Amino acid sequence: MVQAGQKRLIIAIDGPSGAGKSTITKLLADRIGYIHIDTGAMFRTVALAIQRAGVSLDDRQAIEKLCKGCTISFVRTDGCCQVLLNGEDVSRAIRTPDISLLTSTVSALKVVRDYLLELQRQMGRDGGVVLEGRDIGTVVFPDADVKFFLSASAEERGRRRYLELKARGEQITLEETIAAVVKRDRQDEGREHAPLRRAADAIAIDSSGISVEGVLERMVKIIEAKLEGQGARVGAQRPMENC
Ligand code: DC
Repeated sequence: MVQAGQKRLIIAIDGPSGAGKSTITKLLADRIGYIHIDTGAMFRTVALAIQRAGVSLDDRQAIEKLCKGCTISFVRTDGCCQVLLNGEDVSRAIRTPDISLLTSTVSALKVVRDYLLELQRQMGRDGGVVLEGRDIGTVVFPDADVKFFLSASAEERGRRRYLELKARGEQITLEETIAAVVKRDRQDEGREHAPLRRAADAIAIDSSGISVEGVLERMVKIIEAKLEGQGARVGAQRPMENC
């Protein structure tokens, strides 16, 4: 745990889908006693709200109104993090392949990005947070204390996502999953607003062929080095109310 009275850092973890950000971010946050903020889940939740409301993606005003009427929050129950949309647990509903693809399109809309940018900054501004996303180190918190850019090959990321989806009972092939990962990469990297890219000062970690523990240890060492410079240290987990 970070020593009392020490500065609580803002840690950014960006990277393409399937690079292992969610797993690593949760483990890292637990390890250092920080809150975990999954910004992808926030975009997914807005996409779900848009899909349910049947709003056209061209109708900027309707989307803005919808966003303003949404309450997105995270709660931790029995060690498991839930995403709530207006109080309803949508953790599972936001993880289907069609919501993944819709989210990639929705997340390119400026009106959605502006709305979530504000929310993410509010959630993270006091520090003691690990935020995962695509533009945390470049746009949301360009002055984050520590920035990581986590990646892996498209094949490796597709394979991981495929195993996750199969475990959830989704009917999908490995080839389709890899193709979906490549398509989302293209959309996320090619969009006009806040495209996926590595911040110049982000530490790049390629997780292909490295275990989760291996990546985690590397990150913890880097954070420890940062904190040591400030006279603090990283240690055991403390219980958290949020995620
Ligand atoms: O990390 P994820 O797969 O849950 O993200 C879902 C989509 O949201 C993905 O296509 C990229 C987008 N996203 C984004 O544009 N900016 C973020 N900070 C997080 C996610």
